[in-house]
Amino acid sequence: MSPTSPVDSLPDVGVLIAAAGSGDRAGGGEPKQFRTIAGVPMLLRAVRPFAMHPRVRRIVVALPPRFAAEPPPWLATVAGERLLVVEGGATRAASVRAALAALEQGCRIVLVHDAARPFVSLETVDAVIATAAGGVAAVPAVPVSDTLKRADPSTSRIVETVDRTGLWHAQTPQGFPRDMLEEAYRHVEGGDLGSFTDEAAVVEAAGHPVEIVPDQTSNVKLTTAADFALAEAMIGP
Ligand code: CTP
Ligand code: MG
Repeated sequence: MSPTSPVDSLPDVGVLIAAAGSGDRAGGGEPKQFRTIAGVPMLLRAVRPFAMHPRVRRIVVALPPRFAAEPPPWLATVAGERLLVVEGGATRAASVRAALAALEQGCRIVLVHDAARPFVSLETVDAVIATAAGGVAAVPAVPVSDTLKRADPSTSRIVETVDRTGLWHAQTPQGFPRDMLEEAYRHVEGGDLGSFTDEAAVVEAAGHPVEIVPDQTSNVKLTTAADFALAEAMIGP
């Protein structure tokens, strides 16, 4: 028997896209996930690598309520019958929970991805699936390369230079065995969900091992209007 790669198994991966934010820091009217980068909406770019992936069975997109009621038509065009749209919640974690609750049981691996990351590579998607399929939570990340300073918030005076050894920027898609993610959410039930800025933090809090999968720096999250300008420049004319 040949060894199984992420692409030659049955489609058992559910992808949850967190796209229910308001994009306040990006400004400019409509939520940033619908803003175009070189003519293509950011959300469409974020969904596309999963829509093309043979192992993906379902893509659940959490949208702000008024958009969930009437999703943009290009979403169904790109994701086809694998698409499911749900209403997101007040926080990112609440949006992800709503999407997870809508995912059918046949998806035993769950990936959670930010709509604000339009440039994830297939290589990263495959590596995250492979680790999660092995029973370990996976976080795509890049090593911190800047020098880190801690400063006094009231004076802006530097207090210390922080040793960056072993520090990583956590990105998405993060991947989990479904049972692990559900158990982890039950574990933190009743706590302050807003304090978890990614799903790995929930799984870490529940005591599960989480591994780093090396990612590319191009898998950036777009937060401000300037980030959109940079993204356009990255793509080129
Ligand atoms: N998100 C979500 N539900 C929320 C808040 C955020 O699904 N209640 C999603 C966003 O749509 C985004 C991702 O989580 O794709 C990362 O969040 P962020 O970059 O902070 O986006 P926004 O919250 O939309 O932006 P801002 O904080 O500037 O308002
Ligand atoms: Mg936000």
